[in-house]
Formats: sequence, C-alpha cells, structure tokens
Amino acid sequence: MFRISGLLSSLVVLTFVLEISCLENGTLAKLKKFVNCESKAYKSSNAIYKDYWVLENYVMADHGDIPCYSNVTYTTHADYTYLDNVVPLLERWRSPLSLAIYAPGTDFEPTIHSILYLLQCHPGHDLVRQLCSIHLYFDVEHLPQVVLPPETTLREPANCSGPPPYENVVKGNMYRSRNTLDYPVNMGRNVARRASLTHYVLASDIELYPTPGLVPDYMHFLGRQVIGIPGQQPTSPLVHVLRIFEVMANVSVPNTKPELQEMLKSGEAVPFHMDICEACHRGPNLEEWINASVVSKELNVFNVGHRSENNNNWEPIFLGTVEDPPYDERLTWEGQRDKMTQAYAMCVLDYEFHILDNAFLVHKPGIKQPGNRKEIFPQARRTNGLIDKKISREMRMMYGSRNGCVI
Ligand SMILES: *[C@@H]1O[C@H](CO)[C@@H](O)[C@H](O)[C@H]1NC(C)=O
Ligand SMILES: *[C@@H]1O[C@H](CO)[C@@H](O)[C@H](O)[C@H]1NC(C)=O
Ligand SMILES: *[C@@H]1O[C@H](CO)[C@@H](O)[C@H](O)[C@H]1NC(C)=O
Ligand SMILES: *[C@@H]1O[C@H](CO)[C@@H](O)[C@H](O)[C@H]1NC(C)=O
Ligand SMILES: *[C@@H]1O[C@H](CO)[C@@H](O)[C@H](O)[C@H]1NC(C)=O
Repeated sequence: MFRISGLLSSLVVLTFVLEISCLENGTLAKLKKFVNCESKAYKSSNAIYKDYWVLENYVMADHGDIPCYSNVTYTTHADYTYLDNVVPLLERWRSPLSLAIYAPGTDFEPTIHSILYLLQCHPGHDLVRQLCSIHLYFDVEHLPQVVLPPETTLREPANCSGPPPYENVVKGNMYRSRNTLDYPVNMGRNVARRASLTHYVLASDIELYPTPGLVPDYMHFLGRQVIGIPGQQPTSPLVHVLRIFEVMANVSVPNTKPELQEMLKSGEAVPFHMDICEACHRGPNLEEWINASVVSKELNVFNVGHRSENNNNWEPIFLGTVEDPPYDERLTWEGQRDKMTQAYAMCVLDYEFHILDNAFLVHKPGIKQPGNRKEIFPQARRTNGLIDKKISREMRMMYGSRNGCVI
C-alpha cells in the first residue's frame, strides 16, 4: 500500500518536473487566460468543398486532443513526391504537423503507399505517428478508383524492403501531369490550416525546416509578450516572421544563428532564392540581421516590417494564427502570385510583421541555381488577368483599401 502510493507520488512529481522543464511556470496558464480560442475535437471527416473532396484527418496523429492555446501547428501542403521532407522536418519541429496532400486520380495509390511507408518502415516512423495529421484532397472530376476508410487502408502492411514510394518518381508519369492539372496550392494551404487544433500556426512550405526548439521558445516568448498585460494588447494585428536561408547540398542544416552566420561567411549558406526573386524574400534589414552578433539565445523581435512601402512583393513566412486572412483558392502554383491576395488583405488590415531573431527557416539542402528557376507557365498570364479583373475588385470590397497597398 505504502509502496504503491510512494510510487504514485513520485510519478506525480516527475510529471510536474517535466512540465516545468517544458514550459516555464505560468506560461501555459497565461496563454490559457489570454489567447482567445476554442479547442476542437480531433476527428476525421469527409466533405466536398468547392470542386474538391477533402478527407480531413485521414491519418490521425497519436497526440490526440490538444488545447488550442498550448502548442503551435506547422501547416503545409504537398503531393506525395515531397514526402521525403516529413521526417527531417519533424526531427526539428517536434510539434503537431497538419499536412494536406493533393492526390487526384491514380496519384492516390502511390500517395497511400508513401504514407504507409512513413508510418511503418521509415526509421523516423515514431515521430510521424506521434505528430502528423494527414488530409487528402482531389478534384470531384478526378476521383481515385477506390477510397477505403482509413481504418482499412492504414492496416495494410507497407513493403518495407522496397525503396520509399515517394523517391525517384518520374513527374511526367504522374496522373496530375498526364491530365495537365494545376497544383491547387492554396486549397492545400487552407485545408491544412483549417484542420489545425491549435490557434497558433506556422503556415509554411514542407521543404522549409525550422530551427530546433522553436515551439517551446515561441510559447515562452508569447508568454513574455503583452498578451499577459490587459489594456496593452497591440492595436494592429501582428505575426512573427522567420527569415529563410538555403544551404549547399553537402552540408548539414544549421541549428543556431551563430552556426548560420559561420555558413553565410563561408558561402555554404545564402539567403533564400536571392537570385530567383530577391524582392519576394529579402524583407527589411536583412544585412543588419545577418551582421548582428548574438547576445542572447532568447527569441526576440529584431525589427518590424510592413507589407506596403518598399516591400510590396515580399512573401514572408510567419508564425501567425488560424484567424489570419485565408489564401485565395482560385490561385494555383503554376499561376504564381499565389500569396498576393492574402498579402494585400494583411496590408489593408495594417498587419505588423515582427521579424524574429534567433530563429529561422532553412530550405532542404541544395542551392537552387538560376538555371533551374521556376518555369513561367502560360497559367501565369491567366492568373494576372484574374487578379486584375476580378479578384482585386473583390478584395477591395471585402477589406477596403489603404494607401500603399497594391495587389
Ligand atoms: C509557479 O506556479 C505556482 C503555482 O501556480 C505559483 O504558486 C508560483 O508562485 C509560481 N512561481 C513563479 C516563479 O512564477
Ligand atoms: C517489395 O519491394 C521489393 C523491392 O522493390 C520487391 O522486389 C518485392 O516484390 C516487393 N514485395 C511486394 C509484396 O510487393
Ligand atoms: C506540442 O505537442 C507535442 C505533441 O503532443 C508535444 O510533444 C510537445 O511537447 C508540445 N509542445 C509544448 C510546448 O507543449
Ligand atoms: C561542398 O561542395 C563544395 C563545392 O560544391 C565544396 O567547395 C565544399 O568544400 C564542400 N563542403 C564540404 C563540407 O564537403
Ligand atoms: C555588415 O558587416 C560588414 C563587416 O563588418 C560591414 O562592412 C557592413 O557594412 C555591414 N553591413 C550592414 C548593413 O550592417
């Protein structure tokens, strides 16, 4: 009797200590009190949304329910050929991942095999099972042959002796290429963000890996912010921007800003896509950010930018919330300018872009050469027409306009 209760109380103490080492005393309580959000039930569902079937939470993570104020979800989109990024991303993120995968027609089958491989064969499968929620979506006009319920599909054994089904795929053979379907990137972005259990999200691209420890650091940072002081809430909405870098294919991804600075000096790292679209990624005060020596390891805001003025083409990736303006689902990856309407809305709403120091994103190793720059598709012309004629008028009706905000 005595021994059992002794064991129990030491377990209680252990949990308590773990919790403190995870999140500073009081941070969670503060966030619970001041973050205005409602937790939701974690479950799978199927629905038709616009011209797509969306199988939300087809794969559910073992983490189960999560209070909305207590964590941050990385929300992202992909087709199955990008699933090699899941484990390297989770090894660094170690927090919930909400992933929308576009799987039209016969692309559905290799998508399922890729998922099974990640869940059963990959050395990192524990992380995938623990943290990864997967949503599948496809056009109502391009249904897969069979879609079984997840309970059935996910019980199938994967072929662990073969290569990962997402590797060395000939893109031209994919159903999507053979049927010249555009990649509905914003549909995926919105599906993944809508499914987030947490209020705070990092809506990003799956090849962008964050610095380790970012989520607990960010929660502490939020706890220290004015959200804990009534009457001192910021008047403008704000998000926290992560700067993006690329590294050579043969080096490992830097974990800290000093490591990154060394690699920038040696040329092993460079700011993201500088020679492809400088205006999209530079953001204000990049050189100063790179130059500044690190005095504290804590997350802090280095400088504040706005979308207007000289940064009209800036496409920052940021830690924000599920309530930030959505992505326009008519815009596709091939059409480009896919984040422009969200950016316009954020400009009109006068969002502040607080650029973080001591945290950043690094693209999967390998520096893109201008040679293999993003192809210009004929769809881009169509997008420009759509934005100029239709979307920009709608955006002005919905959000209004403001000096310096252009679309
Ligand atoms: C930690 O939390 C406990 C219980 O909520 C509280 O009594 C204590 O004062 C807190 N300590 C600090 C340093 O905030
Ligand atoms: C598994 O993959 C290996 C290697 O590609 C292949 O030889 C084998 O036939 C596959 N097994 C099944 C059951 O498909
Ligand atoms: C966020 O959720 C994951 C999965 O449950 C957990 O491992 C992690 O510790 C959580 N992060 C924080 C800061 O509580
Ligand atoms: C990586 O490759 C570059 C050339 O592509 C070479 O200059 C550099 O020394 C290599 N670095 C390492 C760590 O192997
Ligand atoms: C960055 O540092 C270098 C060398 O110390 C200096 O020449 C340069 O002016 C600095 N640039 C900025 C923008 O601070």
